[in-house]
Amino acid sequence: MLIDLDTRCQEILTRAREGAGSVASPAELQQLRASFLGKKGAVTELLQGMRDLAPAERPVAGQRVNALKAELEALFDQRRRDVEAATLRARAGGPVDLTLPGRGRFRGHLHPITRTARDMAQVFGGMGFTLAAGPQVEDEWFNFDALNIPRTHPARDLQDTFYVTDDVVLRTHTSPVQIRAMRAAKPPLRVICPGPVYRCDWDQTHSPMFHQVEGLWVDENVTFADLKGVIETFIGEMFGKGTKLRFRPSYFPFTEPSAEVDMWFGGRWLEVLGCGMVNPKVFAALGDPAYDPERVQGFAFGMGIERFAMVRYGIDDLRLFYENDVRFLEQF
Ligand code: DAH
Repeated sequence: MLIDLDTRCQEILTRAREGAGSVASPAELQQLRASFLGKKGAVTELLQGMRDLAPAERPVAGQRVNALKAELEALFDQRRRDVEAATLRARAGGPVDLTLPGRGRFRGHLHPITRTARDMAQVFGGMGFTLAAGPQVEDEWFNFDALNIPRTHPARDLQDTFYVTDDVVLRTHTSPVQIRAMRAAKPPLRVICPGPVYRCDWDQTHSPMFHQVEGLWVDENVTFADLKGVIETFIGEMFGKGTKLRFRPSYFPFTEPSAEVDMWFGGRWLEVLGCGMVNPKVFAALGDPAYDPERVQGFAFGMGIERFAMVRYGIDDLRLFYENDVRFLEQF
């Protein structure tokens, strides 16, 4: 019986070697392997046949079959490596030269405007402001009326505003998000709203699409001193503590009093933002008792993100931000 087994093992091994020699793909090899080592494979059959052996012969027979199994496994493994290597070589169109330098991988990064916006949001986040957003295609009411910009105001002029329909515009500033944020939540409220805005303008310092960050703080007992503190902290974090600031009286329909803020940078005053105490008329437009102008006050501010990015990176033409020339973008 054992002699019989030896012959059969030998025969299986020979067949396996022949088969392995002629497979051309990993799939074929997988199939071949199953026909020997699989559930219905030749080796499994052999093991099942051992039930017919005399008990005394079983241990030796078991050893032989296990040795065969190990040999087959080694054979198929080796063959698999060879076939895989051959497949790779064929794909590479010849032998692979492992000493060649690898192909560089291009790694993207954040656009300077995105980075500046995130940095700004982070500084305000540290002062307790949360993010708010609103639509870019905006009702005229949110963009103008509710912000006390009457129909006769020059900002309504067609030269500045892209009208979508008679009473829908591409928002010309992020200030309408103030209104949306106040309609969505009761005071105390502290939000900033970064995002794209649109105006009909295109030159070295103006783009028809640019970005602003709006800020709004509403509570009882909020004063202009709080506004000043927030702006000073913000500029200090962005451009260094002790950066000199100048609050210049100004006019915006939605704030009263209003100011523009200049920052001393590179040996001159640069205008960086507009701000002021929320005009009671804006609260009144909400028609919400929670925003009764007799009870709450607030301050608001708005600024261009491109402006900040240009100053911090020393860029003098805003259009560079939008041309997406990687030679420019790679420098950040
Ligand atoms: N919305 C103004 C603009 O587009 C910027 C601005 C000024 C926003 C004063 C404000 C503010 O919230 O208080 O130029």
